[in-house]
Amino acid sequence: MRFPPVLARNLLKRSGTMSRDHSVLVVDDDDAMREMIVSLLEDEGLTAAGAATADEALERLTDFECDVVLSDIRMPGRSGIDLLGEIREMRPETAVVLMTAFGSIDSAVEAIRAGATDYITKPFKKDALLVTLEKAFERRALEEENRRLRRAVDRTSSFGDLLGASPVMREIFALIRKIADGRSSVLITGDSGTGKEVVARTIHFSGARSARPFVPINCTAIPEGLLESELFGHVKGAFTGAHITKRGLFEQANGGTLFLDEIGDLGPSLQGKLLRVLQDREIRPVGGNTSVKVDVRIIAATNRNLRHEIEAGRFRRDLFYRLNVIPIEIPPLRERPEDIPLLASACLRKHADNRAFHLTPAAIERLQRCRWDGNIRELENVIERTIALCEGPEIGPDDLPLPDEPGVAQGLPDGARLLQEALVAPLSLAELEDRYIDEVLEHTHGNKVQAARILGINRRTLYRRGDRRSRENREEAPG
Ligand SMILES: Nc1ncnc2c1ncn2[C@@H]1O[C@H](COP(=O)(O)OP(=O)(O)OP(=O)(O)O)[C@@H](O)[C@H]1O
Ligand SMILES: [Mg+2]
Repeated sequence: MRFPPVLARNLLKRSGTMSRDHSVLVVDDDDAMREMIVSLLEDEGLTAAGAATADEALERLTDFECDVVLSDIRMPGRSGIDLLGEIREMRPETAVVLMTAFGSIDSAVEAIRAGATDYITKPFKKDALLVTLEKAFERRALEEENRRLRRAVDRTSSFGDLLGASPVMREIFALIRKIADGRSSVLITGDSGTGKEVVARTIHFSGARSARPFVPINCTAIPEGLLESELFGHVKGAFTGAHITKRGLFEQANGGTLFLDEIGDLGPSLQGKLLRVLQDREIRPVGGNTSVKVDVRIIAATNRNLRHEIEAGRFRRDLFYRLNVIPIEIPPLRERPEDIPLLASACLRKHADNRAFHLTPAAIERLQRCRWDGNIRELENVIERTIALCEGPEIGPDDLPLPDEPGVAQGLPDGARLLQEALVAPLSLAELEDRYIDEVLEHTHGNKVQAARILGINRRTLYRRGDRRSRENREEAPG
């Protein structure tokens, strides 16, 4: 419901939602205008301060804790949009309302695209300004609450779709929480199937950009010739077949995140172009001669070792440093067995179609001993196959479609240990066999039938062995 301005203002006053605790920094190069707004806000009981340029505003923000920055767009030196970009980086929790000139729809659109909380068109009435600010305070309070809730789930073993109980995954959760609201580039490395894409999505969807688009692109999937126009767009007639002007993925991701997957496979010419975008924060569509400002966070991922790629001359060092502002390295699954129970149960739930399944502790231990070269993706496949093949509800180690483990079955005598003992105190082959037979018999609790089966010998051979040994023992016995 929209109230007429006067009524709206009265409502605000009555509800007392704005007070001295609410602070605004007014940025405008027009002295009269700025001072007028500051004193108006102070009259309304708010805390307000002024700055004449974007630089002065950034300076003020270092000691002035404010909720909302109200800034003019057009100012000498850096514009309000530039200031907005800096604030998003430096203090993402601050709301920014931009003042646009009457009739300039373009700058209003640009303001919102660049991530402004709201805009107000000049000249404006006092009431309209107060209503706009009120909304900005509310939005800021809401975001603050979201952040608080996010911190509260801090100590659980999941974060969005990301699961993990291992110390290293918890560290990754904490890091994501710290960086989610900012704009710094992130480089995620890890073997295939370790969860690079889930981590990228979690960064985007848990941060201040979550309401804006998350645009993934796989750099290997598109031929280099097409990738440029895919990323930066093109103008009509830029090349044969370019019948219409097309927005690129950078523009589609504006205000949000662009996920450049398999960045290690990006060709040399595009590496240079991407570097320029990261430096200038603007793109130039193929065939176009004007640049477009973009506010896009870059998250890149690769399973290649980019330092090796640099040494081999295949990847630009300067681009690497631009991307690697926040490095996230995801270790292979075999280095974090603590995550396996969680991940395996999540896969069970995902694929079980409401049938009840559970893994026995022995099955979980068995999963924890695997190499998992395909990491979590491989674990998912094994669980999915298990469910397809198993009656359930209980899944034991033998129900898992895994290759046999190397060496003897679990719990049987360890051949390596026997060999080591033999090297210290030489044993004849017969003695070694006897030792082995003893251990197997101990394992089967004296059950000779079972022992013979494990040893791969005839039951009678085992009995004969036993007879020979008791004879020898009798002969050796003194007296
Ligand atoms: N920590 C995790 N918690 C829950 N699911 C995960 C986790 N890590 C990976 N997965 C799941 O494993 C699968 C593979 O993850 P993802 O696609 O993110 O891996 P990747 O590192 O991008 O692999 P590739 O290098 O092959 O592209 C997905 O189904 C994903 O949901
Ligand atoms: Mg991937």
